[in-house]
Amino acid sequence: GAAVEIDISGMKPDEMRMVEWRGKPVWVVRRTPEQVAELSKIDSELADPDSLRNQAELTPSYAQNQWRSINPEYLVVVGICTHLGCSPSAKFEAGAQPSLPNTWPGGFLCPCHGSTFDLAGRVFKNKPAPDNMEVPPHMYLSDTKIVIG
Ligand code: FES
Repeated sequence: GAAVEIDISGMKPDEMRMVEWRGKPVWVVRRTPEQVAELSKIDSELADPDSLRNQAELTPSYAQNQWRSINPEYLVVVGICTHLGCSPSAKFEAGAQPSLPNTWPGGFLCPCHGSTFDLAGRVFKNKPAPDNMEVPPHMYLSDTKIVIG
């Protein structure tokens, strides 16, 4: 499919924008500095913290870092759960979801079978989803424009 562009100008922290690429939702999330810092603290809770699984499909080389992104501030991820393909919902605030442990740093929660992902799309341990969410191929055309695909 054709590449698509997404304009990220004026995005606020915690803001998410969406663009459709190859029939899939691609999310861009602007993370706060606190959220970025949190990503280096929760490795022990994650199934694949270094994104080593299925790298060719899930994590381009430029996203093989703890942020899973080119720019730590912006996450670009396919908004589809790696279990059976539901679309997770975004939960930016710790404690926003009372049924989740207090250690929940915010991220994404799949409503179908309860898989949870951090704000880099990395799946937490002991969840039905086997893999981290897909980071699609992408690049920055400028400070305010990303092309997906
Ligand atoms: Fe997301 Fe099953 S489809 S947990």
